[in-house]
Order: sequence, then C-alpha cells, then structure tokens
Amino acid sequence: MTSLARHIIEVTDAAALAAAAAERVIGRMNDNPGRIAICLTGGSSPKQLYELLGREPYLGRIPWDRVHWFIGDDRFVKADDPLNNMGMARRIFLDRCAPAANIHPISTHAHSPYDAARLYEEELKDFYGANVLDPPQPLFDVVLLGVGPDGHIASLFPGYPAVDATGEWVVGVSEAHVAPFVPRVSLTLPALGSCREMLFELSGADKRPIMTRVLAGEDLPANRARAAEGDTVWLCDSAALPENYRD
Ligand code: 6PG
Repeated sequence: MTSLARHIIEVTDAAALAAAAAERVIGRMNDNPGRIAICLTGGSSPKQLYELLGREPYLGRIPWDRVHWFIGDDRFVKADDPLNNMGMARRIFLDRCAPAANIHPISTHAHSPYDAARLYEEELKDFYGANVLDPPQPLFDVVLLGVGPDGHIASLFPGYPAVDATGEWVVGVSEAHVAPFVPRVSLTLPALGSCREMLFELSGADKRPIMTRVLAGEDLPANRARAAEGDTVWLCDSAALPENYRD
C-alpha cells in the first residue's frame, strides 16, 4: 500500500514496539533482493530496536552484506562522544554485525557542520547514483524517526529554515532548539521522504503531549515528514497516545 496518509499502529509497550519495528524493518529488507539502505535515527527511542537487530532471532534474518546503514541526523561531536548518534548505533549493534564498508556515518570531524553536510550529501548522491531524487526510486528502504518534545524530527526544528529546504539533501544546523545544545547535521525532508517506509517510534507517557499536538494537526516538522511514494507508519505504545485518541 502506498499512501500519503499516516498509518498509526498501537502496541502495548516499549518491548512490543521494538519487536514490531524489527519485524517491519526486516520485512522491508525481504522485499528488496538488491542493495538495501536503512536510515537510522538517534535519541533514546530506537535503542531497544537496535539491540534486537543485533541478536537472534533477528540477527540471522538480516542480509548484512547487502544492507547499508545511514543516519538521519547527528550531533556535531566526535564519533566516540556518547552524544554521537551513529556512535550509539555502532556500539549497540553495527560494529559487531555490519561490514565496516556498509556503515555510513556523518563526518563529524569535518571543519564545520556545513562541511559535514556537504560531504554527506555527496556520499548519499554517490550511493544513489544521481544528483536528483527520482520519486519512484527511493533513496532508502526504511527511514527511522523519533519525535522530540517540540515536534522536531532528525535535527529539523520547528520554525528553522532547514525545515523548508528543498534543494539540499543534508544541512548544517548551528544551534539546536532542545538539548543537547550542540550543532547538528541533518537530512532534509525531501531526502528523508525518499523512502519505501518512514517508520516513527514513540514510546512512553513523555511522548503524549507532543503526540497530542501532532494528532491535532499542528504545523510541526513531525507532521510534515512523509514518505513521498511509500508508507508513513507511526508505531506508538499505548502510553504515548492520548486517552481520547480513538474517540
Ligand atoms: C537526535 C535525534 C532526534 C530524536 C528525537 C527523539 O539527534 O536527537 O535524531 O531527532 O530522534 O529528539 O528523541 P528521543 O528518542 O530521545 O525521544
């Protein structure tokens, strides 16, 4: 099914959410007999999913040689800094499971977040094989996302010009809107939207206030993010959804 509509799937708790996400990610891998590209996300929401992907029974179901791992945004800190998003994914599962050549971090040792953005855009274009995104040929099989308390996704914060970027695939963001207050590098909405599935993960009561605003249709980056020609799926546990969600 391809739809511009958001599809919300409710699960009981964080463990069920991680298992459901793992099944969806592996399902998308199974749909692609060629080279697979997964765009990971930072923050705390995907950690349980990353732990599952790195152990059985999921580990053995992933065609590691064919899967390339990217990151939707990163904090402009050293690769081994605990705040580095790709560093977190590497420590949890990638370094143990994926061929090194298939791991594509943002170069946070570049001179500035803007240089890092330019380098990552070049790397993505090289991987994709073209300088312009062609909607029927998505860049990614799956784009994972979390939502911040202000409705940001990746490092696209509400009201920032980066949210409206259309030409660039990757942008530097000099100041974050929420902690950690370090510069960021982020894929733009068109690059993130070039996917077969955009998969959000929201778990816990802390997410309920922002989920309430999202469902009210506020103009937030989280509400603008859509898979251009694929499916946009929000996996939420019951605690993250407002009481009146089904009314
Ligand atoms: C980052 C993230 C960011 C994150 C949301 C949700 O670098 O911080 O990529 O967009 O996904 O802020 O974060 P949590 O999962 O920690 O709530």
